Amino acid sequence: MSTSEKFPQISPQFFSQPLLETIANDFATPTYVYALDALKNNLAGLRRHFPKADLHYALKANPSGALIKEMAALNIGAEVITLGELQRAVHAGIPRLILGGPAQSPQLIQAALANGVRQVSLDSLSQLASWQDVAWPEDLSFFLRVNPALDPQTHAHLATGAVTSKFGMTSSEAAEAAEQILKQGATHLAGFHIHAGSQIHALDVYDDIFKCLRPLYERFASQGAKALNLGGGFIVSGDGSKHFDFDGLRQKIEPFVEEFGLALTLEPGRYLTANAGVLLTQVLHIKDHRSVDGRLHVICDAGMADLIRPALYSAEHPMYVLGRQDAEQTILGDVDGPLCENADRLMQQKQLPEIVQGDILVVEQAGAYGLTMASNYASSFRPAEVLIKDGDVRLIRKRETFEDLVALEL
Ligand SMILES: Cc1ncc(COP(=O)(O)O)c(C=O)c1O
Repeated sequence: MSTSEKFPQISPQFFSQPLLETIANDFATPTYVYALDALKNNLAGLRRHFPKADLHYALKANPSGALIKEMAALNIGAEVITLGELQRAVHAGIPRLILGGPAQSPQLIQAALANGVRQVSLDSLSQLASWQDVAWPEDLSFFLRVNPALDPQTHAHLATGAVTSKFGMTSSEAAEAAEQILKQGATHLAGFHIHAGSQIHALDVYDDIFKCLRPLYERFASQGAKALNLGGGFIVSGDGSKHFDFDGLRQKIEPFVEEFGLALTLEPGRYLTANAGVLLTQVLHIKDHRSVDGRLHVICDAGMADLIRPALYSAEHPMYVLGRQDAEQTILGDVDGPLCENADRLMQQKQLPEIVQGDILVVEQAGAYGLTMASNYASSFRPAEVLIKDGDVRLIRKRETFEDLVALEL
């Protein structure tokens, strides 16, 4: 990583300084803050680009009950992969659900059917065998998830479309699954599904995706495959340097869906919620080791237990010091967490502005894969969550306490 890179930041359009100061004062830190207007803005943008697409929010990105209730009111569907996600989505009143994921236990299948799930993405022939054990409602239909065996040009942990990943079937397995489903009636075959990875920015990935899908639709479109699920994965880049080219994607999708007469489904996660959330963390200590390792170490009250993306994916979250957004960035340093792990940091080797003990840092793009991936490692209490809606601030999840940590212990 170049040492000349800046402590990146993105304009705090939806998170005003006075509101964030009030939240830090009233609810302490670390606290996640979401702005409903930012989420609505992202959703409106996607709907403008794909007005006919059936949008299913990937709940794993941020399953906060208050947020997904708002999404239900905006008539967005959800993609769920676990019993917990299914129950959360039903509880929030989300109107349409797709059950996906590489593991669908008999218990999950039963719960999905009982809760009105009527679209399922199958990841393997083995999963199809599990579904053969239950009676299919007339309106149940299946997407067959295909592994396109391509290079999604993203972090290895996010490259679900790589041939070595556990996801999806080969094209011939998907064709075999389609044949088996057709025996139960053409209406049970929805079509094919590819989610090639997350943080995708290279549009040529979609050329490979359509190359993989073409023979399947040539064979099955006339037999009932009338839908296409292209997953999610649209990039939200840390330094704002890469923007997903939705116009370019639409130009690739349109001729394909028109040729085969397909309805389009998308499963965006990160794109909807990432920049609709920030994490507030307070600076507890400053260790000036510039004469030792060339760095200033800024030790905060949030780290890998609260936001694991920097440790897990080397993700770069834009940050700024609350109240000093425009401060000059002249000091090389790391923004570290409070735990005893080298990987416990929020930012590494960046040019930082002057930072002093007690400062509040605003960690941006924390609305996706933030609290949902947080843990109790080192008996950390997971952060509180706050929602900004119509200018009002509301606590939507309390900070955990010692009682929460031991609640399940016998
Ligand atoms: C099948 C599927 N759809 C959609 C998503 C959402 O991806 P993203 O949050 O990158 O949009 C995921 C993420 O893992 C996924 O596995």
